[in-house]
Amino acid sequence: MSITSGKKKITAPDIISMKKDGEKIAMLTAYDALMAGLVDQSGVDIILVGDSAGMVMGGRENTLSVTMEEMLHYTRAVHSAVKRALLVADMPFLSYQLNPEQALKNAGRFLQEAGAEAVKIEGGAPMADTVRRLVSVGIPVMGHLGLTPQSMHQLGGYKVQGRESDKAEELLRDARILQEAGVFSLVLEKVPASLAREITGAVSIPTIGIGAGVHCDGQVLVTHDMLGLFRKFRPKFVRRYAELGNAMEEAVKNYVSDVKSNTFPDDSESY
Ligand code: KIV
Repeated sequence: MSITSGKKKITAPDIISMKKDGEKIAMLTAYDALMAGLVDQSGVDIILVGDSAGMVMGGRENTLSVTMEEMLHYTRAVHSAVKRALLVADMPFLSYQLNPEQALKNAGRFLQEAGAEAVKIEGGAPMADTVRRLVSVGIPVMGHLGLTPQSMHQLGGYKVQGRESDKAEELLRDARILQEAGVFSLVLEKVPASLAREITGAVSIPTIGIGAGVHCDGQVLVTHDMLGLFRKFRPKFVRRYAELGNAMEEAVKNYVSDVKSNTFPDDSESY
């Protein structure tokens, strides 16, 4: 019997228990009520309102310009539809990096104004005090290491992280420091599978991989990527479970053709 099957609402402690029980964690993104409802009903354990919304929904080149107000708007919409999954909101660039008090104020807004049940922040050791501050007032925090897209300019793009031994050691150290500070789980993005395996074995909190191999305690993908809706680029780690972008194009072409040829609407579709 799994921890989460038949459960009314999944909590942060449930996510920690899933690692102990050897049950894999399935996480996906959502930015609106329609998608969130479909994803929630399909059985995912965690729904992340990712700042990837800036690229997927806002058409931007990267996540850096996403604001608190935008993220609160997306999170409120998702909250209105989620009944079962744990709802995690991504804190946008510069909403938590100034100091722990700024982070607390903004993380609190996600819980108080938008219905989030946890927040996600990017970064390692320098974020430890911030994690401690949020956790001290009862806000569950998900960490994010490896490729941290809010640091893409410093990292030189969206490259695999931790290939060199000194960088791998730093990531392992960061994972331990974040666990010590109190994160309940840890996203590992675009790191070699062997390193993700080592980190997963070294911490008691669950790791959730994206481009980090099969040994993580769970996996996360951007829903619009795995459904084939976001087609601007396709990282190697994205497995497409549907081609909804193609299906939508086909449907719209058929509609345009029916309108132009006067075959829509017919009598059954008229009053
Ligand atoms: O913003 C996002 O969607 C994310 C996930 C890809 C982990 O951070």
